[in-house]
Amino acid sequence: MQGKRILLGITGGIAAYKIAYLIRILKKKGAEVKCIMTPASSDFISPLVVATLSQNPVAIEFWDKKTGVWTNHVELALWADVFLIAPATANSIAKMANGLCDNLLLATYLSLKTKTIICPAMDLDMYQHPSFKRNIQTLIHDGVLVVPATSGELASGLEGEGRMEEPEMIAQFTENYFLSDLTKSNQTVLITAGPTYEAIDPVRFIGNHSSGKMGFALAESCLNRGMYVVLITGPVQLQMAHPNLTLIHVNSADEMLKAVSENWSECHFGIFAAAVADYRPKEIAIQKIKKKEENLTLELVKNPDILKWASENRNSAQKVIGFALETNNAEENALLKLTNKKLDMIVLNTLENDGAGFQSDTNKITILDKENGKFEFNLKSKKAVAQDIIETIMNIK
Ligand code: CTP
Repeated sequence: MQGKRILLGITGGIAAYKIAYLIRILKKKGAEVKCIMTPASSDFISPLVVATLSQNPVAIEFWDKKTGVWTNHVELALWADVFLIAPATANSIAKMANGLCDNLLLATYLSLKTKTIICPAMDLDMYQHPSFKRNIQTLIHDGVLVVPATSGELASGLEGEGRMEEPEMIAQFTENYFLSDLTKSNQTVLITAGPTYEAIDPVRFIGNHSSGKMGFALAESCLNRGMYVVLITGPVQLQMAHPNLTLIHVNSADEMLKAVSENWSECHFGIFAAAVADYRPKEIAIQKIKKKEENLTLELVKNPDILKWASENRNSAQKVIGFALETNNAEENALLKLTNKKLDMIVLNTLENDGAGFQSDTNKITILDKENGKFEFNLKSKKAVAQDIIETIMNIK
């Protein structure tokens, strides 16, 4: 980030106390930092701390009542290579989404020519409120990048989603923004997610417990980076809407393969996170199967391997990333899949780890790549795991 000009906006939430550390990290990475604070944020962190660490005067008001000096928000906006707002409160996000500019930070946002990255921070009920979700969608639609809040202990004493992402991760996201802006902007990612349902008769199917959470988190992480996403999902309870998202719902493996084959040639990356049923009933009964005999035998036939199909039908620039869920000899089996399916990377998760797997909100992964690289990660939320995966993918040669 050497020489990058980061305009750091601080709004009035308790997470503002962490911004001193964020400024230090950004400065250590070589960035120039100028800060704008909303008046409310100075109750949470002293402008003196912010000015000292950023080595620049802090802008708070349109004009200084004592000196009469006016702060030019247009100049600040033009100076910035990126406008990073951390923490971004529900109030400021609502104002940004609606074009309000009753403070210097908001007026600067409206004058900006470059990208804005926001790091929401609020209590869990506010984070789930439909109005907040609506405002975030509006901002994403307007091209704002979002570092999603994480789950954990909140200042209110409650526990849940709404905690501002940690300063290290925010700095990493910002650094990646500059990298991806140079190398991966306007790229399209195809992601498969969820289970597939293989019909037995009109009312029954063979399926699995995949929730789709990992695939959707990957899609969100890509969209937050300004990428285009084609998300092809089996039946899940999740919803997602974004102007850069094409969401395709399918039921069976055959339908998923059809959707992949219709979209794959337009994509730069394929991330195959779906838990595709390996087999399907050979015949689908036209009528509901009645219980008659003591035993019922279903003949199953193999489903197409969608990941393998994509790997075999790609051009040299397209990168293919698979997932492996293993219960024994995890690394060995994952490496076999990496080689057999000719992948660039495989994300391994083992059911041996508590808190990892299908329905959980957390995951623990190891990424193996075709250059014999091995990247191990701690148990994290699926959102944070998605970020790790996308960051690793960004560095594929
Ligand atoms: N996959 C796919 N199409 C299939 C089966 C799997 O695209 N019909 C993809 C999954 O999305 C995942 C990877 O392949 O990325 C998993 O590999 P796979 O060999 O199918 O794993 P398992 O089903 O666990 O295989 P095995 O039973 O051989 O361990």
